[in-house]
Amino acid sequence: MIKSPRGTRDLLPPDTALWNFVEAAVRDVFRAYNFHEIRTPIFESTELFARGVGEETDIVSKEMFTWEDRGRAASDKGQSLTLRPENTAGIVRAYIEHKLWERGLNKFFSIGPMFRRERPQKGRYRQFYQIDAEVIGPASSGSESPARDAEILEMLATLLDRVGIANWTLELNSVGCPADRARFNDALRRALAPVVGKMCADCQRRAVTNPLRVFDCKVPEDQPIIAKLPTISQFLDEACRAHYEGVKQILNAVQIPYQENPRLVRGLDYYTRTAFEFTHGSLGAQNAILGGGRYDGLSEALGGPAAPGIGFAIGEDRLVLSLMETESAESVIRKPDVYIAPLGAGMNREAARLARELRRHDLVVDLGDESFRLKKSFEAADRMRARYILIVGENEVAADAFALKHLASGEQVTVPRGDLAQRILRNE
Ligand code: HAM
Repeated sequence: MIKSPRGTRDLLPPDTALWNFVEAAVRDVFRAYNFHEIRTPIFESTELFARGVGEETDIVSKEMFTWEDRGRAASDKGQSLTLRPENTAGIVRAYIEHKLWERGLNKFFSIGPMFRRERPQKGRYRQFYQIDAEVIGPASSGSESPARDAEILEMLATLLDRVGIANWTLELNSVGCPADRARFNDALRRALAPVVGKMCADCQRRAVTNPLRVFDCKVPEDQPIIAKLPTISQFLDEACRAHYEGVKQILNAVQIPYQENPRLVRGLDYYTRTAFEFTHGSLGAQNAILGGGRYDGLSEALGGPAAPGIGFAIGEDRLVLSLMETESAESVIRKPDVYIAPLGAGMNREAARLARELRRHDLVVDLGDESFRLKKSFEAADRMRARYILIVGENEVAADAFALKHLASGEQVTVPRGDLAQRILRNE
């Protein structure tokens, strides 16, 4: 038997109803905050992620699905391509490529699959889905303001409330600007020098190339060492400190609770200043339901103009998992209002006419086949939890009135064709 590849899954009904419920709710919220949808390719040049996310990150150094294009055209040949592991770099690439600032557009969202070769476990997959939102634009558009950071965080709180996720924790930090980080990296190198020999091979490499990434280490034995390292908050310059204070003041004013976590550095290199994660207790080890932050230098790093930005990505798989704690897919799925049972030769076409009429009234209609015995039609209607069954036999067609049975109560009435839709809509 051929199975889906490791780390991928089929999303099946009824669960897909929950996915659609989430996506419809977030689209409503994005509309209220003036975000517009952008759809970028699922694969990009490998170089985009190497430069955007950073060579030394786990994502780029270990987790990407990368291949060399086999195309014959000279422009394709040997080009290195990668399934997107995240979408911030892709959206910023599109922003630069299409000069989106010239159109006055600066708030974008996208929903779609991402790919990382991680060890699969609950809440961690090799193909997973992100709901991504980014605010990006020239500083004159206000994109650098702490008001944008606070707006993003307040929008996330609204969004989680709206979807029905309670008990989240917002963890907040500032990772400063590149100059702060250079000073911090020096301090980390000094602090790591006497202890790094006892750490894992990855940390020994990180200590040389990009010491900040030591904070991404998950090896249990290294954690006591990491807990004693200096934190970035001691190295923020005046402007970054003031920016961070500005974000916190607005969050306090709009009553969004947060916890400061000075060790939160996030696993991607593009972050500057505000960095955050929302966690949720129900998720176990993979408890980050979403993550994000500011990336003021990313556009320039990718060859674009100065364009400060901030955004987040929600792990949709994890959001749905948390939601399943309280909400069953069955409760959001819309069941058939009526199941039409054609009874006997020639009745399929009568049933088709009726189904067409009823669906025009926005009713959910399903139907069987004229070869089915009545018992089989009843079983099918029960299995799909239809509210009514409508019997279409020769006598009914001749009278232009049909037997309509309410399945839960067993009550049956004969209803003229013209009254059927209203009768079913009234749910009597
Ligand atoms: P990230 O923290 O790498 O950030 O991913 C964001 C979220 O995606 C995580 O919090 C998690 O919920 C989900 N996620 C990540 N990897 C997996 C996986 N293997 N399986 C299931 N869910 C996963 C970013 O991707 C940034 N682009 C976020 C961002 C947008 N920053 C600024 N703008």
